[in-house]
Parts: sequence; structure tokens; C-alpha cells
Amino acid sequence: MSAPDAKQRRRGERAELLDIALTAAHGAAAIIRTRASEVRSIEWRKKGPSDFVSDVDMSAEHAIRAVLEREAPEAIVLGEEMSPTAAVDAGVAFVVDPLDGTTNFLHGYPEYAVSIGALLGGRLAAGVVLNVPLGDIFTATLGGGAYRNGERLSVSTIADPSLALIGTGFPFRDLHQIDRYLRQFAAVTRGTAGLRRAGSAALDLADVAAGRFDGFWELRLSPWDFAAGTLLVREAGGLVTDLAGADDPFVPSSVVAGSPAMHAWLLHTLNEP
Ligand code: 2AM
Ligand code: CA
Repeated sequence: MSAPDAKQRRRGERAELLDIALTAAHGAAAIIRTRASEVRSIEWRKKGPSDFVSDVDMSAEHAIRAVLEREAPEAIVLGEEMSPTAAVDAGVAFVVDPLDGTTNFLHGYPEYAVSIGALLGGRLAAGVVLNVPLGDIFTATLGGGAYRNGERLSVSTIADPSLALIGTGFPFRDLHQIDRYLRQFAAVTRGTAGLRRAGSAALDLADVAAGRFDGFWELRLSPWDFAAGTLLVREAGGLVTDLAGADDPFVPSSVVAGSPAMHAWLLHTLNEP
């Protein structure tokens, strides 16, 4: 097979994975939307400190798995609620957060999403982040760009930190990290136009891809929080690494994202205090 054929085949595979992820995400979003109207009567269970799960998370993940099993029966699924330790370094794999921003959802605060990343041979190939309350659909394929509702995205062009708006997440479950986080918070607050903490890492990364946030960081996230969002940011021309500047994708880690200029500034500033 000639090189262009191989390239075309890979592009086709990525588009197919994106289609499957989109179908699965739409199914989960429909379940979440239906349940959003009765949110006060939903029962929560505590998984850990400030970590909740409801039957809505479980039903949404079930629905996603049913689509993935039907459309890609050979695929491995790393999912927040049902298979959080699956290895995804070979073959076709999906990294699934059925409801990112569960705490927001349970309080009726309209900032939550379905996030599905698709991997080929351990490498991000496609990703979907679906903003459930707004209906915005963020998609990306490797080498094919990032989009919101079909419109091409690019990261912010702001290079002066004093003009930048930065997203973050608090280390509310890892309380031993609070002092370190507060030093970083002070340094970033001093150097930028402002910080926002909305409570869904997948949407924070989508906002970096869309150029709404100039950068983002959080001290500890799980692979399902950042898989799809990482591809969105990279395909929009931005960078995503951990706090050491390394790219160690599908294990729990810190996340620093932004346009190349703001990513560099954040890495420097966050490692200073
Ligand atoms: P969740 O809603 O699916 O639990 C909030 O800071 C964001 O970070 C949410 O996307 C939340 O995902 C995610 N998150 C996951 N694990 C976390 C942790 N240990 N500490 C802080 N945020 C975490
Ligand atoms: Ca999550």
C-alpha cells in the first residue's frame, strides 16, 4: 500500500472512532438531560471525600458502553464508574467520563459534560466533549483540527499574561495539596487578569481549545477528565502537559494547558512558588 493510502486509511479510522464516540455521547447526554429536571430527588452516594456518584452517572456510562460494545466490540473501555483501571496502551480504546462535573449536576449548576476520548495504539485519535446544558459539541481528530458545533477552533493569541483569563480546578479531594495550590493561586492571580473555577475539567479544556480561557491548570485529574479535552486543545494549536512539562497521558496526573505562550508562562509560574 502506498503512503497516501495509509494516511487516508488512518484518517478514516479516526473519523469512524469520532462517529462512534459522538453516538455514545449523545445517548448519555439524553439520559442526563431527562434526569436534570428531577435533580432534587436523585440519590447520591459518596465515593470518597467530596466525590459523589448517582445512578445518573451509572446509567450514562451503561448507555455509552452499550454503544461502544455494539460499534467497536474489540475496544477496551477505561470508564470512571465501571472500569477505572483498564489499560489502554494497545489497540482501540475509549476513555470515558459519563458525567464530568457530577457535583455541579447534583446541585443544578449548569456546567457538566460527557467526555469520550478514543485511542489507537495508546495515542489519542479522536475526542468528544458534549456540554449537556448548552448542547455545545466539541470534537477533534488527530491531525484533523478541533471544532465546536462544526466550527473550527483555535487557542487564544493573547501572549501578555496580564490580559489572560485562566481556568483552574481546586484540589478539594487532595487536601494535602492545598498549601502548594494556594501558592500557585497567589502567583497566577497576581500575574493575570483573572481566574475561573467552573467545576468540569473537560469543559475547562474545551474552553482553552475555544480560546475562551488562555490557560488552565489543576493539580490532579484522572484520565477520563482530560483525555478528550487534551486532543481538543492540541488540535486547536495549544499544549497540554503535566506540571513537569511531560506528556504522560493516561494516568492520574497534574494538567497544565494553554496556548504555547500561556502554557510556557504557566509552567514557569506554577513551578516557582
Ligand atoms: P468529576 O466531576 O467527574 O468528579 C473539578 O475540579 C473537576 O475535576 C471535575 O472535572 C472533576 O470530575 C475533576 N476531578 C476528578 N478527580 C479530582 C480530584 N481528585 N480532585 C479535584 N478534581 C477532580
Ligand atoms: Ca470527571
